[in-house]
Formats: sequence, C-alpha cells, structure tokens
Amino acid sequence: MLKGPFSGGWSGFREAADAEKLASVQFECVAALGDAPLPDVSGSFDLLICALALCHVPDITGAGAECARIVRPGGHLVLTDFHPAAVAFGWRTAFDTPGATYILPNMPHTRADYLDAPTQAGCQVREMRDIALGGEPYGDVSEAAIREKGMPPFCLVILAQREAAG
Ligand SMILES: C[S@@+](CC[C@H](N)C(=O)[O-])C[C@H]1O[C@@H](n2cnc3c(N)ncnc32)[C@H](O)[C@@H]1O
Repeated sequence: MLKGPFSGGWSGFREAADAEKLASVQFECVAALGDAPLPDVSGSFDLLICALALCHVPDITGAGAECARIVRPGGHLVLTDFHPAAVAFGWRTAFDTPGATYILPNMPHTRADYLDAPTQAGCQVREMRDIALGGEPYGDVSEAAIREKGMPPFCLVILAQREAAG
C-alpha cells in the first residue's frame, strides 16, 4: 500500500503518490458508481480506488462487481470508507456549506458486506484495516469492544486482488 498522508479520500492517494515521487502513476477518476454501470473499460486498470463512496450506495454487491470488472486480472482494488460500525453507532457523513449542513444517506452495510462484495466479484481480500478516529489501528471491532470504548472505528480500508486469468 502507498505510505504517506492518508485522509481516506481520493485526494489522499494522489498526495501519497506524489510524496513517494511516483510521478508516472496516472490517476483517472471514473464516475457514476452506484446508479449506472461504469464505462466500458473492462479489465483496463492496474488499480482501482473507490474512496468514501460505498457507504452511500444501496447495492454494495453490484458496486463491488463493477469495481472488479474494470480491473485487469491480477490487478488490485483499494476500497476505503466511513466505517460501517460508525454508521451502526449512529454517526453520519455530513458536510457544511455557508448556508446549510447536508447529511448524506448512509446505508446499513455491515463489515461482512464489505468483505463479501469483492469476494463475490472474484477477488481475494488481501488486507482489511479498521482505523480509529485518530488514524491509529482500532483493534477489536466486536460490538462488545466498541461499546466498551464508547467510540466506533472511523474508517475501513480493504486491499483486494482480482484473481489472475486462467
Ligand atoms: C465523501 S465523497 C468522496 C468523493 C471521492 N471519492 C473522494 O475520495 O474524495 C462521497 C461521494 O459519494 C458519492 N455518492 C453519494 N451517494 C451516491 C450513490 N448513491 N451512488 C454513487 N455515489 C454516491 C457523492 O457524489 C460523493 O462524490
């Protein structure tokens, strides 16, 4: 995984690549995940980053399949998100504008749903990280542990790899 600054969002990956002097890494933003199929670019990408989006998408399985489809066999997927346990805890994604605060709908996905989505799409999950609000590893994500801490994990990061062809 890339080292360096990490906000969980898309821009953090560009910053991390710059910090590692990976100028040759090309980033392309592919929109429309969720309501419509991604463009006809099957098997085109070495790495797909889906950042902070799946918590808004009702069909996480379909979105996972779309993400996997556009990655080449043997290529990787990085899925980051607001942690599903934070949603279950009652936290919500929101942003402020000068005139209003907008609260985006958050789906009741579970951590297992995030694991299943790439797996069902023919990928192997290589790494799964639960990150605390301060950026450190959260540790035990059982309901009992979260209750005891009084604060859920903040971010979920998954590294998956599409199975190689043949
Ligand atoms: C926190 S932003 C993350 C944006 C970007 N991926 C990044 O890392 O900076 C959440 C994104 O989810 C998108 N979104 C919200 N609801 C969605 C839905 N139902 N289907 C697909 N995308 C959705 C929003 O348009 C927004 O771009």
